[in-house]
Amino acid sequence: MSSPDEESSRDDVSPRRIEDPAAFIRAETRPRPVPLVPEVRLYLADEAVPIWQRTEEELGEIGLPPPFWAFAWAGGQALARHVLDHPEIVAGKRVLDFASGSGLVAIAARLAGARAVEAADIDSFARAAIALNAELNGADAVTPCPDDVLGRDEGWEVVLAGDIAYERDLAARVFAWLEALAARGAQVWIGDPGRSYLPRERLEKLAEYGVPVSRELEDSEIKHTAVWRPKPA
Ligand SMILES: C[S@@+](CC[C@H](N)C(=O)[O-])C[C@H]1O[C@@H](n2cnc3c(N)ncnc32)[C@H](O)[C@@H]1O
Repeated sequence: MSSPDEESSRDDVSPRRIEDPAAFIRAETRPRPVPLVPEVRLYLADEAVPIWQRTEEELGEIGLPPPFWAFAWAGGQALARHVLDHPEIVAGKRVLDFASGSGLVAIAARLAGARAVEAADIDSFARAAIALNAELNGADAVTPCPDDVLGRDEGWEVVLAGDIAYERDLAARVFAWLEALAARGAQVWIGDPGRSYLPRERLEKLAEYGVPVSRELEDSEIKHTAVWRPKPA
């Protein structure tokens, strides 16, 4: 995110913690309805680059991952829409929203009647955003989960994952894990617009959506996105 000049001028800046991530999120975003899921409002950023830069400045670090939590990604929007339109998928169930980002899918699951939703994300800003967004939508029983749950099985009845096929290594690990969870009987649902590392041949497509997205982040204004499940083993 930073030019080499900026990097060298920041070499003496020690990494630090943002004292109040919730205050940072409130200052850098504003609550807005999600285009495909207007019944959910999220603290969203207008543009990616300024908030990315300000995160790096605040933390005194460079090369951070993008602020995924400040956007509603196409895969998450499609999966949230699908869950709200088919509440029987989650109603009364214990649900994991893996790679939750803003918490959009977790919030949709709770609004659709899930008993309890764990919203797992390894990014501490995402977990602060999940808490704020859950509160904004009155979605109690959505719990931001700080542990790296990838590879674990904590008995979830439903596992949801929006937009997780954007990095090769991550996708390889995630899909092997999701297939194992499905094989033991968990209901696994994935929202994805066909990112580079989506293993389509191992998935079945259940539904399709045209998702309004930002041209700053994507290659079109409407991203053709599907809801998938692992093929039975
Ligand atoms: C493209 S965003 C998708 C966010 C959200 N599901 C959506 O669709 O809007 C991917 C998210 O995966 C998270 N992530 C990456 N590796 C992870 C891991 N091992 N465990 C949990 N979350 C992870 C990132 O921090 C990021 O928030």
